[in-house]
Amino acid sequence: MSEKKHRVSRRQFLTYTLTGVGGFMAAGMLAPMVRMALDPALEVGEEGDFVSVGLSEDEVSEEPQRVDFTREIEDGWYESEQNQSAWVVRIDGEILALSPICTHLGCTVDWGTNDDHPEEFFCPCHFGRFERDGTNVAGTPPTRPLDEYEVDVRDGMIYLGDINQRG
Ligand code: FES
Repeated sequence: MSEKKHRVSRRQFLTYTLTGVGGFMAAGMLAPMVRMALDPALEVGEEGDFVSVGLSEDEVSEEPQRVDFTREIEDGWYESEQNQSAWVVRIDGEILALSPICTHLGCTVDWGTNDDHPEEFFCPCHFGRFERDGTNVAGTPPTRPLDEYEVDVRDGMIYLGDINQRG
């Protein structure tokens, strides 16, 4: 049986190499274009979407009220529902919607549950305290205010959007 020598010429070597490198570079340039073409399917979340929390503007008072609501989250092709909560309160005529997540280590705050400080939000984990407008009380573990939802009023009803960090 004869063994056939297969030699690659310099010209063939250059052709193979340049074709490979060129293909690799083309794929790198095309990938972002393909991704953009598939958007918004690959877009993470629904930024800027507001959700009704079933509370009318007239019902909001200086006494914080907890509202629980569900937000639909889209992540690529995957859709899910996320349960969220907020404390809605009126301060000097302005409506605020505060996150119930303590800014110290993430426990859940409650309104008026500390007998010594009944007019504050209280976090039972490390005795963190926040004022009615969400400002952290100095000398307690949290070092920044409660986060705040974007608020919109549509036809007299309260809608909440993204959560933003304050302070
Ligand atoms: S988690 Fe709230 S005070 Fe520490």
